[in-house]
Parts: sequence; structure tokens; C-alpha cells
Amino acid sequence: MKKIVIEGGNPLSGTISIGGAKNSAVALIPASLLADGVCTISNVPNITDKDALFDIVKHLNCDIEQNGKEIKIDTTNLKNILITQELSVRLRASYYFMGVLLGKYKRVEMYFPGGCNIGSRPIDLHLKGFKALGAKFTKRGHKYTIKAEHLHGADITLDFASVGATINIMFAAVYAEGRTVIHNAAKEVEIINIMDYLNNMGAKISGAGTDTITIDGVSKLHGANIEVIPDRIEAGTYIIVGALLGKNLKVSGIIKEHNQALFDKLSAMGVDFKFEGNSVILNKVDKLKPVDVKTLVYPGFPTDLGQPMSVLLTQASGVSTMEETIWENRVGHYPYLKKMGADIEVDGLKATIKGKANLKGTEIHATDLRGGAALILAGLIASGKTSIFDIDYILRGYENIIHKLSNVGAKITLEEI
Ligand code: UD1
Repeated sequence: MKKIVIEGGNPLSGTISIGGAKNSAVALIPASLLADGVCTISNVPNITDKDALFDIVKHLNCDIEQNGKEIKIDTTNLKNILITQELSVRLRASYYFMGVLLGKYKRVEMYFPGGCNIGSRPIDLHLKGFKALGAKFTKRGHKYTIKAEHLHGADITLDFASVGATINIMFAAVYAEGRTVIHNAAKEVEIINIMDYLNNMGAKISGAGTDTITIDGVSKLHGANIEVIPDRIEAGTYIIVGALLGKNLKVSGIIKEHNQALFDKLSAMGVDFKFEGNSVILNKVDKLKPVDVKTLVYPGFPTDLGQPMSVLLTQASGVSTMEETIWENRVGHYPYLKKMGADIEVDGLKATIKGKANLKGTEIHATDLRGGAALILAGLIASGKTSIFDIDYILRGYENIIHKLSNVGAKITLEEI
């Protein structure tokens, strides 16, 4: 077991390069199994969620070759067998094998997916979509069997613009006979990356990035290439680091439009940032203005940046609010910020944050991926030593986070407990 230890307060200078998007990669890897042949994915982030997916791909008898950030998946010997509970629960995104195997083989057997504890995380919208395409499912304990005699196109209106359900329905519909239209689809940019990959394989999909996605079923998909887009959540996290501690800190390899909602809030707070090509350069300022932030579906303020952003709000002079509207539980980090000296009142999913607070290092625990990242940010600005436990959550989704931060001057280390 390991912990992260931080000696806070250092200004940060230099460049942090952004890796491939976790939320794209965890869908692109399973999507490869839809193709017959060899697929190549480049710019794959080095995160533990990727390793968990590799184990499922190997369990299904596919070959994986990794060369740095490029992976090749050969599906020639794919076997559609039960995905065990041990494999399914390692991450939330294991649910993508449902759509992929159902789409390709009209049958899938696997257990309920795992993931961070940020709410009940149901999959009813995925299952409703599969049903509309002609599938039936049975559930025994946590094990799902989903099968269809025949999958056909359908008009599907999502009750909520779920990212996972939108992608999973695309996967299941890609081999279905006829046209499927997903209404009220999620508009997150990662979905465009997935559409491009499937179209490179020979699929006929249009509309990703809008709220209506059309899929015309095809009978064959071949091996293809795709590059994972930059991780807008990793970028956003380091951009917030730059607002907290930057001394000409450059965050490079970003697509600025993907973080527009964040930049709008940073402008309102008076953060000093300027763009240079596909980079943004940030400098800490003495006085930040308070703002109200509410998480929303894309292109609104991302739920995955709410917790890191709440740390910046502790440094604004005045009263800010942070309201979570997507997940039931994204407040696990607040007791630890309070333990460090922040003035925060939490009422349900809304936090009222009074600044500017002087945070002090102490012992704290990550409760989920993005909450864990928020605690690292708090440790970086706190005086003295912060020790963060339960850090596996963080390593699931932030590649080389210790190295990226120490490289720009942070005193942060990984230590054995
Ligand atoms: C994805 C992202 C996650 C991000 C979230 C919202 C991945 C691997 N993860 O998660 O980082 O926080 O989008 O941007 O891409 N819901 C249902 N029924 C369902 C599915 C979802 O009620 O069948 C609800 C969820 O409980 C939640 C909301 O819809 O309240 C959003 O979920 P969804 O967009 O599906 O999130 P994920 O795809 O799991």
C-alpha cells in the first residue's frame, strides 16, 4: 500500500503535457472488439483503468501489444465468454463490453460493473436502449445475460443524456439491421472520438457531439486506427493547479474549446491565463473573486472538475458555491478540506465555500478519483506536510501524476505505508 506525501506551498513552473482522455480510452479499447482484425489506438493514457480493461480483453482471448502509448488489439481469436465478477467490478467502464458483445454476437454475459463510489450508478438506460433494439435481459444476483435473436434499428429517446448509455447503444446498434436514432444523446466530446473510430472501421454513424445520433447498421467492421483525444479533465485539473500555484506554468496539448466552461469561470474569478497555440499559461494572482458553479452535462461545467474546482474556491476572497447535479455523491472530499482549515458548509450536494482559507497539511483519505485529485491540489497549497491515503482511486485516472507535478517543482512523493 502506498500514500502520497506533499510538502505544500511551492510555486510551479515549467510544462505539464496532457495525455489521452481516460473517458475516451475506456470506450475505445472495448470498441476494438467490434472489428474483425487488428486495431491500433494511439495516445492511450497510462492509467490503471486501462490495465483493468486489458485484462478483460485478454480474458476474451484477444491479443494486445503495447508499444509506449500505442496499443494494437487483434480480435482474430475473440471468444465471447462470461466476463467474471472479479473482472467486471474493477471499473465502471466494463459496461461497454455489454454493448460491444451484444452488438457483435447478439449475446453477452457479465456482472454489474464497478467504479468509484459517487452514487448508485444504475445502468437502466443502457438496458432500455438494448431492449429497444430487440434484446432481452435476465439478471441473477449481479450477473446479467443479455441476448437477442435479431437486433433491429429503433428510435430511442434517453430519459437523461447519459454518456455511457449513448456510447453503449451506439455499440449495440452498429451491427443492427436498419437505422437507429438516439434522441437526447449525450454531447460529450469523447463520443465524437468513439464515432470516428467506429466509422474508421466501416460503421455509418453521424451526429455525435449533438443531441441526435444516427446509426445505420452494417454487416461487417474491419480493423482501424484512432488517436485518443486529449483528456479535458486532466487538463482542467492542471489548469486549476496553475491558477493556485502557477508561475508561468504551461499546460500543453489541450483543446481549449473542450474546457470552455472552466475558462469562463476562471475569467470571472480573475485568474491570470493566456493561450499560446494548444497550450495555456497560468500565473497565481493574490486576489480571486468568488463564483457560483453548478455541474451540468457537456458543454456545461463538467461534474468531473467540480471537486478540483472547489479547492480553487477556497482561495477566492468571499463566498462561492459549488453545486453537483449529475452524481448523488461528490462531496466526500469536503470533510478533509475542512480538516485542513477550509470554511465549507455542505447542504446535500451544494457546498458554500468561504475564502480565502489558509490550508494546513494533515492526514487525509481519497474517497474517489476526482475527490482524490482535489485533495492533492489542497496539499499543494497547504502549509506543511499532507499525507493522502487510499490513493488507488487517483491512479485509476491520472497518468504519472506524481511525475507530472514534481517535474514542475511540486514536492510530492509516493511512499510505502
Ligand atoms: C461518464 C464518465 C464520468 C462522468 C460522467 C458524467 C466515463 C467512463 N465516465 O460516466 O467520468 O462523471 O460520464 O459526465 O466516461 N444514469 C442513470 N441510468 C443509467 C445511466 C446513468 O440513471 O443507465 C445516471 C447516473 O446515475 C448519473 C447520470 O445518469 O446520475 C450520469 O451518468 P452517465 O452520463 O451515464 O455517466 P457515465 O457514463 O457512467
